[in-house]
Amino acid sequence: MTRRMRSKFVAGNWKMNGSLTANHQLLTALLSGAEGMPADSAAVLVPFPYLAQCSVTLDGSPLAWGAQDVSTHESGAFTGEVSAAMIADFAASYVIVGHSERRALHGESDELVAQKAVAAHNAGLIPIVCVGETLDDREAGRTEAVVARQLDAVLDGAGDEVLSSSILAYEPVWAIGTGRTASPQQAQDVHAFVRGRLRERFPALADGTRILYGGSVKAANAADLFAMADVDGGLVGGASLVPHEFMGICEAAFSASRAD
Ligand code: PGA
Repeated sequence: MTRRMRSKFVAGNWKMNGSLTANHQLLTALLSGAEGMPADSAAVLVPFPYLAQCSVTLDGSPLAWGAQDVSTHESGAFTGEVSAAMIADFAASYVIVGHSERRALHGESDELVAQKAVAAHNAGLIPIVCVGETLDDREAGRTEAVVARQLDAVLDGAGDEVLSSSILAYEPVWAIGTGRTASPQQAQDVHAFVRGRLRERFPALADGTRILYGGSVKAANAADLFAMADVDGGLVGGASLVPHEFMGICEAAFSASRAD
């Protein structure tokens, strides 16, 4: 299989940041930098209230948009929840499921993450499924075991149809928001492991599935990370709020895609 099946992709996870005014400035700057960018190569993942702003501001541009979480339920008495259909109503394309902050702060289980991927897929959204180990896990030599457990729950619970439209993201918890990026080789090792595991279960999907790296990606380290064979782009937190950083990361992704 050629690598061309997986052009690089960059998603900016804004987390709980933004305001109408700040977003306007950020999106305007991104749009001017995104001119000529290939479609479907970058997205911003925003707090729910700002999906409407994105749908107006980014419509017709190369930048796609999406959300950071989704309910497993379709509708009903689930106060505070937001369904996949509601996210899709704002012409969103993507939703993060299983971010480590939701796993750690909201007790999301591996099985719940799989259900969220299914709900997203059923509404026509592309789930960005996050996996990753803590520093304790890594130091105890449990990286592959933890990533395998998180991934297997999605492979078992979501199945090949959902996986065929999903993006995976490896985000080592110790690298998120810490400024401590995984080395390109550390990222590559886990990405290759994830792809291998996917190949064992769903061989037809392994070569075409994008696996993003997340954890302190910046313009300065993106090119080295994206040069790795199994790193198909980035899930970017802090740097996605800084226009020249985010565009620099996108540029690194396009250059890497062109070099493939
Ligand atoms: P970071 O966050 O780039 O700020 O480390 C990445 C993420 O949490 O998705």
